[in-house]
Amino acid sequence: EPLLDTSRVGRELFFYPIAVSTNALAKSFARNGAGEGAVVTADAQSGGRGRMQRVWSSPAGVNLYFSVILRPSVSPLRLPQIPLLVAAALHRALSFSVPGLQVLIKWPNDMLVNGRKICGILCEMESEADMAHFVIAGIGINVNLRELPHEIRGIATSLFLETGEEYSRSALLASFFNAFEPIYDAWLEEEDLGQVLECLDEYSYLKGRLVEVEQFNRRLRGRAAGISRTGELLLDLDNGERRVISSGEAHLFIE
Ligand code: BTN
Repeated sequence: EPLLDTSRVGRELFFYPIAVSTNALAKSFARNGAGEGAVVTADAQSGGRGRMQRVWSSPAGVNLYFSVILRPSVSPLRLPQIPLLVAAALHRALSFSVPGLQVLIKWPNDMLVNGRKICGILCEMESEADMAHFVIAGIGINVNLRELPHEIRGIATSLFLETGEEYSRSALLASFFNAFEPIYDAWLEEEDLGQVLECLDEYSYLKGRLVEVEQFNRRLRGRAAGISRTGELLLDLDNGERRVISSGEAHLFIE
C-alpha cells in the first residue's frame, strides 16, 4: 500500500459502500463542521452528479468517487481556480501511477486520454457565517471500468480501457492526495494560480485549437490561446479580439 504523505488531505476518510452522491454527503459533513481535508468516498453512487445537471455514471467495484472538503481562507473570487488545482493534481497523480499515460486537461475541469474523458471534477462552494466558505471538490475517475454505458461510449474511457491493466483504487486515491496537498498549500500563499500554470499550459487539450464556448446561451468561436494567471480561458476571435472566458463549457470546433 502506498503511504499517505499529507498532513490534512485524506487524513480523515469516510467510506461508504454506496452513497447517493459523495458531494452531497460531504456538503452535509462540512455544514456540521467537518475539517479541511476530510474526504467522503463511496464504492458506488446511486445519484452521482456531473456539471450542468448531468448524471455521473457510478457503478460499484470499479471506479473512484470521492469529495474533499476544503476551507481555503482566500477571497471568494479565487474559488473558481480550485478545479484547475484539482486538474493539475490529477494530472500528476495519473502520470505517476500509470507511466506513459498521456493525460490532457480540458479547461475548465475535464481530464482526457486519447480525446476521451477519464475523470470529471465538480466543485461546489457554500458560504457560511462570518464571511467563511467551504468548497467541496468532487472527483470521479474511471479506473477499472471495462464496459462503458452506451450513453457515453465514444466520449468516455477508463484506465483499464486505455492500458488493459487494472489499478488499485486506494493507491490512486493516496497518490491524488499526495499530489494535491502541496499544490493546494502553495496556492493558498499565492495571488493567482502560481506554479500550476505551467502544468495547465503544457498539458492543455484546447491550446492552439479552434473552440466553441457556450456562455450565457451564446456561442463564441475562436482559437484557444491558453489560460490566464487567474484561470480564465483566453480565446482569440477571428477579428483579432481576445476574449477572457471565466466560465462555461468549451468544445472543439471542427469545420
Ligand atoms: C463532470 O465532469 O461533469 C463532473 C463529474 C464529477 C463526478 C464526481 S464523482 C464524486 C462526486 N460526487 C458526485 O456526485 N459527483 C462528483
